[in-house]
Amino acid sequence: MIIRRITEEDIPLLSELDKACFSVPWGPDSFRMLLGDSCDPYGAFEGEKLIGFGYILCIVDDAELLRLAVRQEYRRMGVARKLMETLKQVAREKGLTHMSLEVRESNAAAKALYESLGFVQVGTINNYYRQPKENACLLSAEL
Ligand SMILES: CC(C)(COP(=O)(O)OP(=O)(O)OC[C@H]1O[C@@H](n2cnc3c(N)ncnc32)[C@H](O)[C@@H]1OP(=O)(O)O)[C@@H](O)C(=O)NCCC(=O)NCCS
Repeated sequence: MIIRRITEEDIPLLSELDKACFSVPWGPDSFRMLLGDSCDPYGAFEGEKLIGFGYILCIVDDAELLRLAVRQEYRRMGVARKLMETLKQVAREKGLTHMSLEVRESNAAAKALYESLGFVQVGTINNYYRQPKENACLLSAEL
């Protein structure tokens, strides 16, 4: 597996994987808009196959995790952990001091991952998600 920056050419693969992982997928236009300077998208590849991806948006001293997903058949193999380590390193190199994210209250797998990476819950946002409607846990970690 290699982890490298996502480029415009990867967007069809990215949209396909996003659709498979989220009830409200982003679509290619949203991914295209997020290729700018303040956004850092990274993908995990097995040959030509995209097996996971993660996006951070860098604002002042905080890297906000916008999206993180791993293809179903590659889960529990450490792919997300490696992506998160890469994203944390990228954010540190930009001089950022914190990483923050929102996660569905019921998303036990993601919450366990973030907890193992040192994230702590700093708040709750009521009815943040739709399809299905659900509260978000707001998590933060020092970089
Ligand atoms: C959450 C997600 C990204 C985790 O990806 P992954 O590559 O399977 O995670 P990793 O293999 O790197 O797991 C790292 C640690 O996270 C925790 N973890 C991951 N999946 C877990 C699960 N299903 N149950 C409990 N703990 C889990 C464990 O602590 C794991 O370490 P371990 O395997 O040594 O016990 C993946 O399940 C996914 O894509 N889910 C759908 C999209 C999603 O919910 N994204 C997050 C939105 S905030």
